[in-house]
Amino acid sequence: MNKTEGSKTDLKQCLAQKAALVNEAIAEYLARCNQIEPEIKKAIEYTLAAPGKRIRAVLVLWCCELCCGKINDDAMTAAVAVEMVHTYSLIHDDLPAMDDDDLRRGRPSCHKQFGEATAILTGDALLTMAFEMLASEIAEAKIAVRLIRTLSESAGAAGMIAGQMADIAGENSNGGLDALKYIHINKTAKMFAGAATMGAICGKAGEKQIENLCTYGLEVGLGFQIADDILDISATSQELGKTAGKDTEQGKMTYPAIIGLDRARETAFDIAEKAVAALQEFGSKADILRLLALELAKRTH
Ligand code: IPE
Ligand code: IPE
Ligand code: MG
Ligand code: MG
Ligand code: MG
Repeated sequence: MNKTEGSKTDLKQCLAQKAALVNEAIAEYLARCNQIEPEIKKAIEYTLAAPGKRIRAVLVLWCCELCCGKINDDAMTAAVAVEMVHTYSLIHDDLPAMDDDDLRRGRPSCHKQFGEATAILTGDALLTMAFEMLASEIAEAKIAVRLIRTLSESAGAAGMIAGQMADIAGENSNGGLDALKYIHINKTAKMFAGAATMGAICGKAGEKQIENLCTYGLEVGLGFQIADDILDISATSQELGKTAGKDTEQGKMTYPAIIGLDRARETAFDIAEKAVAALQEFGSKADILRLLALELAKRTH
């Protein structure tokens, strides 16, 4: 991030600029994948190239830039890999056996468009492709291994998958705030922590910086999911590009359901402040990340 970007504090514009870079990198990578089974390729293009917010991918880019002053090729690769894993998680999250959601990123969800079997396989393909990409496109083997390890831990059975399991198991129950925090940390926050960590690794940051950015990512991710819970009851399907009111319909454990809407909003802010606190060592260079944390806590879509 350059100085002007930081002082203008126009987060929306900065995000859009970086998201455009991610979109270009995705298109470029897919154009090079000419061996993919044609129907899976269509479904990958349909889901991955759909208008997602690209927040996790941009987090990779910003954390790299913060640590080494620029966005390098490794960070672009890592950003696309993160977006592939995230998109796979959404495709599977929408399946009838999971949240049974017909709308995603403003269009029919993958299984609605291509059928359930293709949607399952498209998710599998994106997950695998992310690791193939990291293994083959990162220049230094040591960095590739560390990125692969970070992403697999964030998305795996002690990370996002664990959260998704607990989310489904917790339907129509009230396991209390600790159980809810476990769900949100795992299903969402660990992917944010992984993204921030991967950006720092690409930027060749020191261990302390990597640790602080990981903490930042975890807090931002938790705040992001609380905001997602709030939006599920306060925004429209059109604003969200996914079906509003789904959580209540399915008896999901959410922050508004467990502690009420007002306390959920307060909690999202408190958590954003914790995220900001983790950035202390970076000084004003990290202003865009501070702004991101605070804005995501009160986002409206
Ligand atoms: C949706 O993530 C899933 C959650 C963890 C809440 P996003 O809100 O980032 O979805 P896209 O990528 O913008 O579609
Ligand atoms: C999804 O949480 C988390 C994932 C790992 C995909 P949600 O089920 O709340 O996400 P949305 O609201 O469908 O995007
Ligand atoms: Mg879900
Ligand atoms: Mg869902
Ligand atoms: Mg949700």
